[in-house]
Amino acid sequence: MRDRVFVATKVSGSHLGHDEVLKAAEASLRRLDISCIDLYQIHWPNSLVPIEETIRAMEALVDRGLVKYLGVSNFSTAELRSAQAAASKYPIVSNQVLYNLNRREIEGDLLPYCRENQVTVIAYTPLDSGRLAKPSAASSNPDATKVLELVAAQTQKTLAQVALNWCVFDQGVITIPKSDKTARVTENCAASGWRLSADQKALLDKAYSSSDDD
Ligand SMILES: NC(=O)c1ccc[n+]([C@@H]2O[C@H](COP(=O)([O-])OP(=O)(O)OC[C@H]3O[C@@H](n4cnc5c(N)ncnc54)[C@H](OP(=O)(O)O)[C@@H]3O)[C@@H](O)[C@H]2O)c1
Repeated sequence: MRDRVFVATKVSGSHLGHDEVLKAAEASLRRLDISCIDLYQIHWPNSLVPIEETIRAMEALVDRGLVKYLGVSNFSTAELRSAQAAASKYPIVSNQVLYNLNRREIEGDLLPYCRENQVTVIAYTPLDSGRLAKPSAASSNPDATKVLELVAAQTQKTLAQVALNWCVFDQGVITIPKSDKTARVTENCAASGWRLSADQKALLDKAYSSSDDD
């Protein structure tokens, strides 16, 4: 089923020297037993290694047919700009960052920048480590969760599905929820293919804007 699967992996922020990147990618390919990684991402920025050196190695991987697309993770807007400036042959297609109803820091600067520059935001921890899937009775933020429950009832979706769909409401964001349970993976897959109404989106934005859930 290789042709039906999009394989994304990352190189550690502590292995960003030119040869280290090549070695890490080759080791990932061996462990995954595949011939090409669809998306290869820099896990964390590392100010000790010039980004030009890292990107040169990443681009060499594309030249060699070992990687299809280049991405970054946990890059600020400034760091993303530097990576883009260093990438002369292939674009940086994605930035994998923390984003969910409780953690909306990227909305200020990074998210608009990514949208304007066709960089897909890959929202990690989109369920806030499962907190957003808990009912209000078990939530540490019951007032906001009651609004999530209301929208879930209106849309006939689960809390997790609404929380994930909220992330992808505007173009340019995808989510990578984690579950080791088949039923939840199926549930989470059904979080896309439909849309919240503008009113429902606004209701959730408001309910979670003053959230101090940790
Ligand atoms: N780039 C980075 O630096 C970075 C950092 C952190 C995370 N990530 C990536 O982001 C992905 C997801 O993030 P995450 O694991 O931190 O948090 P998450 O996806 O927000 O939450 C995962 C938790 O939610 C539970 N869950 C999943 N679906 C559910 C559902 N439908 N109903 C109820 N509970 C549900 C899971 O439990 P069960 O497994 O028991 O179902 C798990 O405890 C991972 O693949 C991770 O590798 C990347």
